[in-house]
Amino acid sequence: MNKILTKNLSKQNILIDNHGRTINYLRLSVTDRCNYRCTYCMPEKMKFLPKKDLLTFEEMDHLCSLFISRGIKNIRLSGGEPLVRKGIFKFISNLSRYISNGDIDEITLTTNGSQLKSFSDDLFQSGVRRINVSLDSLSEEKFNQITRRDDLNNVIDGLEAAKKAGLKIKINTVVIKNKNLDEIENIISWSHKNNFDISLIETMPMGLTDKDRIDQYISLSDVKSIIEKKLTLNDSNYKTSGPSKYYRVKETDGLIGFITPLSDNFCSSCNRIRLTSTGKLYMCLGQNNNIDFRNLLRKGDEKSLNLAIDSAMKNKPKSHDFDISHKNQTPAVDRHMSVTGG
Ligand code: 5AD
Ligand code: SF4
Repeated sequence: MNKILTKNLSKQNILIDNHGRTINYLRLSVTDRCNYRCTYCMPEKMKFLPKKDLLTFEEMDHLCSLFISRGIKNIRLSGGEPLVRKGIFKFISNLSRYISNGDIDEITLTTNGSQLKSFSDDLFQSGVRRINVSLDSLSEEKFNQITRRDDLNNVIDGLEAAKKAGLKIKINTVVIKNKNLDEIENIISWSHKNNFDISLIETMPMGLTDKDRIDQYISLSDVKSIIEKKLTLNDSNYKTSGPSKYYRVKETDGLIGFITPLSDNFCSSCNRIRLTSTGKLYMCLGQNNNIDFRNLLRKGDEKSLNLAIDSAMKNKPKSHDFDISHKNQTPAVDRHMSVTGG
C-alpha cells in the first residue's frame, strides 16, 4: 500500500484554486455502471466506459492518498451505482485508515439504494456513517417510469436496513416537472417521518438521454414556492460539505436542502473536485476540461502527479456552463452524471 505517501502527510497542505476557493472535497466515481436507467441521467441503451480502462481499487487508494496528502478532508464515493462494483467494502475499510488517524473527516457514499438490503452492515463496518440515497418517487408506477426498473419496494427495504445498521440517511430527489412535482411535499413528509434529511436537485444537462430536458426541468425557486403553500420553511444555518442550502420545515422539524446549479449558481463556494473511475480529474461538473491521472499514476512518477494537482488548481473553472433555456438543446457537457457521479 501507500506507505511513503502516508508518511508524508502534512496537516499544513491546503489546496486553493485560482479563484481563491479552498478545495477539500473529493468525489470519486468508482464505476460509471448502474443497474438503473433514470430518464434524466442516461438512455436505456447506455454505453459505459470500457472495463479495461478502469482504475483498480489499489490505484484509487493511491490517488486518494495523494489527494489527502494535499488537503482533501472529505471523500464521497459515487457511481453510477458504487455498490455494484465488487471489492468496494475492502477498499473503503482500507481508506478508513485516514479517518482513524485524523487526516480526513469522513467517507460518505451516494447510492440508488438498490443494494442496501444486503450491504448496509458492510457499509457501516467499513467506516461509512452517512449516505445519500437517490429516491425520486414513492409511487411504484412513477418509480418504474423514472428509473425504468421495478424496484421501489427493494429500495424502501434497503432504507430500513440502512437505518438499522446505524447509517445516517439523506434522500436526494431530482424534481422532474412532468413526473414527480406533485409528490414533492409527500416525499418531504415521508422522509422526515423516517428521520431522513432530504435534498431536492434541479435536472442538469449532462450527456444525451432519450428525453428533452426542457420537459423535465423546473427551477427549484418555483418548487420552493409550491412547497411553501403547504409547509413552512424556516432558514437554517445547517451546512454540510455539499452545495445544499438548507431550511427547517416547521411542521416536521426536519431539514430540506435545495441544490440549485441552474437557478441559483453556487460555484463561488465550490470546494470540490471529481475523479472518474478511469482516473480523469474533472475540476467542474459542468465543464469538459480534465486531467488524466491514470497515465501519470501508471508511469509511477509522484512528482508529476503532484504537479498535475497544482495544474488542476490553476485551471479549475470559475463556474459551470449549464443552460436549459430552449428545446432540443445539446448538453453543456457530453458525459453523463454517472461518469463523474454528481
Ligand atoms: N441532473 C440532476 N441530477 C442528476 N442525477 C443524476 N443525473 C442527474 C442530472 N442529469 C442525480 C442522481 C443522484 C445524484 C448523484 O445526481 O439522482 O441523486
Ligand atoms: Fe443510476 Fe443514479 Fe443515473 Fe439513476 S441517476 S441511472 S441510479 S447513476
